[in-house]
Amino acid sequence: MADDAAFVEVGDADAMADGEMRQVRVAGSRVLLCRVDGRFHAIGGVCTHEEGTLADGELDGDLVTCPVHFGQFNVRTREAVAPPCDLPEPVHDVKVEGGRVLVARQPRA
Ligand code: FES
Repeated sequence: MADDAAFVEVGDADAMADGEMRQVRVAGSRVLLCRVDGRFHAIGGVCTHEEGTLADGELDGDLVTCPVHFGQFNVRTREAVAPPCDLPEPVHDVKVEGGRVLVARQPRA
């Protein structure tokens, strides 16, 4: 896959339908890539509560539920929206070029 300095290519945009999510590796980190209403969002893939793998949870609209203690995050805003989670996830910029999805190597500051 082609990478550039700031972004990592993680797959074909057409390979993900609305409502799907998957874990991708970005610069050594686990990132959760989601497609909601045609747009891609990428937040940290590891729950900020006790490190549950969010890709093993469920995505309903823009809310992902952690499979461990069922805390929730909004994948558009990265915010924790249901306990026991209270810290936001990192968020990465995402762009689509030539039908390929690219995720920023570094989370947004
Ligand atoms: S590890 Fe995710 S809610 Fe506890």
